[in-house]
Amino acid sequence: MAKRTKLYEGKAKVLFQGSEPGTVVQYFKDDATAFNAKKKGTINGKGVLNNIISEFIMLRLQEMGIPTHFIKRMNMREQLCHQVDIIPVEVIVRNVAAGSMAKRLGIPEGTNLPRSIVEFCYKSDELDDPLISEEHAVAFGWASPQEIDDFMAMTLRINDYLSGLFMGIGIRLVDFKLEFGRIEDENGDVRVVLADEISPDNCRLWDAKTNEKMDKDRFRRDMGGVEEAYQEVARRLGILPEGGMAELEESDSEES
Ligand code: TMP
Repeated sequence: MAKRTKLYEGKAKVLFQGSEPGTVVQYFKDDATAFNAKKKGTINGKGVLNNIISEFIMLRLQEMGIPTHFIKRMNMREQLCHQVDIIPVEVIVRNVAAGSMAKRLGIPEGTNLPRSIVEFCYKSDELDDPLISEEHAVAFGWASPQEIDDFMAMTLRINDYLSGLFMGIGIRLVDFKLEFGRIEDENGDVRVVLADEISPDNCRLWDAKTNEKMDKDRFRRDMGGVEEAYQEVARRLGILPEGGMAELEESDSEES
């Protein structure tokens, strides 16, 4: 394979230049970090699982008309995406109190929220992704009011759709984080599309009956059973092959 240009290495993914102009290859690593990389580890097979889980979700969202950066999955660890200019505002949607909001406001984890709550964080590792309001995003030029309107409309539709999708497989979508990017279309118009990934790394997923955690909190909180939880999410989505992880890992090594 021709040597590719690495554009950026993040905590869980590496971005390479794609072969066509305006495209990138997203490579999913097994590396896991938490608390802004103060905690580091490896979740075996995570990259492969997040790649297929995120592919599945991005395709479902595209079917309902949400524009995304996703083009296609290339192999077990890589997907081809449109290159976007990432908007430095992380959008968090919460349906059930958990994590930083539960702690910050003293609300017991697991409390159902009377309505979904959307929070914004400024995407900055140096500052630990601080919570911001729409005012900050606009005043500092991180996103325009129109862009915020656009991604808020998409966010609410995504939350409704994904809550139903996961409930159908016995999983409660407690909260999740989205990132959006700007892309220029053929006419030179700039529009906002969903970017990054949607996987158990950036969602809280609880078993609907037992409330058992099926996401990265198992790693953040040293609960064990991390690999199994990610696999179970893929299995319930119907995308884990019959041979399970062994089959996925086999195709992974054949490709590399
Ligand atoms: P939080 O409760 O820690 O603020 O997390 C809210 C949601 O956002 C949760 O589903 C995990 C996700 N998340 C990320 O994807 N990246 C991050 O850096 C953080 C802090 C949270």
